[in-house]
Amino acid sequence: MLYSEKVMDHFQNPRNVGKMDDADGIGEVGNAKCGDIMKMYIKVDDDGIISDVKFNTFGCGSAIASSSMATEMIKGKPIDEALELSNKAVVEALDGLPAYKLHCSVLAEEAVKAAVKDYYDKNDIEYDKAKFAEGDCPTCEE
Ligand code: FES
Repeated sequence: MLYSEKVMDHFQNPRNVGKMDDADGIGEVGNAKCGDIMKMYIKVDDDGIISDVKFNTFGCGSAIASSSMATEMIKGKPIDEALELSNKAVVEALDGLPAYKLHCSVLAEEAVKAAVKDYYDKNDIEYDKAKFAEGDCPTCEE
């Protein structure tokens, strides 16, 4: 079997799909390699905890599974912790992805980071810019 049961589960029953009208942070990213796009919405409460997450993607099954898993991993967590979420952690939580599909999980990581960055920017919160450096996709040369 090419895909793990967890990947199939999150692909067929993705969690937290949709749009959020009152989001505190929105991130939209595209994958240069395949042209897929993803939009991530976060709601942050007064204590800096991510109280709700939603995502929409025009992407492949692995991108859907990765973002679904990513939303579950950051929901209820402090926003700073969401920033630490790596595509590697998402892939591990999914019990793996085929090597040529790893770049799809990068889309999920980048969408989360973009939403966090949007939240920081909107609220004038200082952050370490190095954390948003691009180019750590394991399979993309871009
Ligand atoms: Fe584009 Fe998976 S092929 S995100």
